[in-house]
Amino acid sequence: MKIAAYNFGEQVEEICLADAGGPGLGSVRQSLSGFLLVIALEGKLAKQTGKRRMDSGRYGFASDNTAAICPEAWAALQEANAKSAPSYGEDCWTARVSDRIREIFETDCDVYFVFNGTAANALSLAQLCQSFHSIICHEYSHLQTDECGAPEFLTKGSKLLLVGGASGKIDIAQAETVVARQNELHSQEPRVVSIAQATEFGTIYAGNEIAAIAEFARAREMFFHLDGARFANAIASLNCAPKAITWEIGVDVLCFGGTKNGTAAGELVIFFNKEISREFGYRLKQAGQLGSKIRFLAAPWLGLLTNGVWLKNAQHANGAARRLADRLQNEAKIDIVFPVEANLVFVRMNEPSVRDLHARGWHFYKFIEPDVHRLMCSWSTTDREISDFIADIVASNH
Ligand SMILES: Cc1ncc(COP(=O)(O)O)c(C=O)c1O
Repeated sequence: MKIAAYNFGEQVEEICLADAGGPGLGSVRQSLSGFLLVIALEGKLAKQTGKRRMDSGRYGFASDNTAAICPEAWAALQEANAKSAPSYGEDCWTARVSDRIREIFETDCDVYFVFNGTAANALSLAQLCQSFHSIICHEYSHLQTDECGAPEFLTKGSKLLLVGGASGKIDIAQAETVVARQNELHSQEPRVVSIAQATEFGTIYAGNEIAAIAEFARAREMFFHLDGARFANAIASLNCAPKAITWEIGVDVLCFGGTKNGTAAGELVIFFNKEISREFGYRLKQAGQLGSKIRFLAAPWLGLLTNGVWLKNAQHANGAARRLADRLQNEAKIDIVFPVEANLVFVRMNEPSVRDLHARGWHFYKFIEPDVHRLMCSWSTTDREISDFIADIVASNH
């Protein structure tokens, strides 16, 4: 298959890809030499339908996963690629990232790398739970809705106990009721409370809210697990020290996401309570999550964690989401469903408008039936993209 690579619209290169199948092919994006290159499919593939998708669309608001690797992460990756280095985490990049994490969080902690967020969540929960335990989480948590049962599978049967709550945040009164019901041998003993910060709906637990959940966990001798796939966005939004919403208030484990912040892959599992990380390395290896060339996961992280790039990227994404939401409201009279506190914007949109925007090439997903759709911004979202989207949505409303 032939593809043409474009640098902001100008064709610069024609390269060949193996004709790999599957839906993943539709979202090929690469950053070469620090420039964003959008790869447009040419020839036969462009005519294919069904599971294989064209890459000619506009994916900027579909997900923060559609963004390219940020320049700093890319440069660090290139640097790590200059020569051979020790494998399985014995390299200097892995050590430097772990040290940087300890500096940023201002504490001694254990740091592990995994390939993605599902593995980070499920394996860290498996470290905390026995099969007869249960995990309190939000009914719309990624654990529940998007991990294909990985937490239950890797814990060998721990149960997710679902709790509601406005805007994706756990309602403590509901959590208390749920825990109170698990009061004897016939039920699964509550062991962990897990929240996402930022939440799946792009909201952020304020310091006092997260402290209340920590207190809830502490009072019941439960562990506190934080899904921080967008932890950087949360810190950028709250403008607080990372320790203030983690170990200082009782978070035991943080899954710190890099992918949505500008790396290609690789999330961190950070144990603030070092007693519970015992033998976690074996768990990772057994689950196929110990990278032999782990330096290529670590080096991009070093790019993020040097000179505050992780915060700069998150601030950019959050700011873009804020501007997008304001313009959607003011110029297109679109309803914003949840407070915009991170890089996600949830909008109410009718079917004809959505169809029209899809026809204009915009990709984004319906999240809640019947009409709530999610738009996401990333480190690479531009004002031009926002303007183009607003212009199309205004046109589609007329
Ligand atoms: C809240 C949350 N947690 C975790 C993840 C990580 O998922 P993945 O396994 O796709 O990296 C995501 C990704 O969308 C997420 O939104």
